[in-house]
Amino acid sequence: MMKKSKSKTVLVLNGPNLNLLGTREPHLYGKETLSVIERRLVAAGTAAGVRVECFQTNHEGVIVDRVQQAKREGVGFILLNPAAFTYSSIALRDALTAVQIPFIEVHLSNIHAREPWRAHSHFTAVAVGSILGLGSRGYDLALDYAIARLKSRS
Ligand code: DQA
Repeated sequence: MMKKSKSKTVLVLNGPNLNLLGTREPHLYGKETLSVIERRLVAAGTAAGVRVECFQTNHEGVIVDRVQQAKREGVGFILLNPAAFTYSSIALRDALTAVQIPFIEVHLSNIHAREPWRAHSHFTAVAVGSILGLGSRGYDLALDYAIARLKSRS
């Protein structure tokens, strides 16, 4: 029963230091806070009849646990900004491939236009797709896709 309703849930996951959005290098990541972005996503989901849950952590094991929990809950789609875990966390990538919940990788900045070591993501090859460099708008666009996909499968 729980599973049925949760399959219409999009989980928005944000990794380390994204709790600092708004004050963290605004020339790269914008001036909006994470809570402003999250509230907008939740509202867009509500308008479309899709539940949006948001979660941010600075801790690798905690985000792995949240992905595993999402599987138990029957979450239908994930939007993920892995932040610095993009380059380091095989554990998070393995969690996503283990649970087989489709996800979009979102980055506020264009990681290909920055330091060369930011260009390789452990997640791109296993994501449905990636949105880079569009600032917080990237989350909105990813959510549009997730909503359409969940609706088309109901
Ligand atoms: C980021 C890009 C990463 O390189 C960086 O480590 C972040 C944020 C982005 O959203 O642009 O923390 O994921």
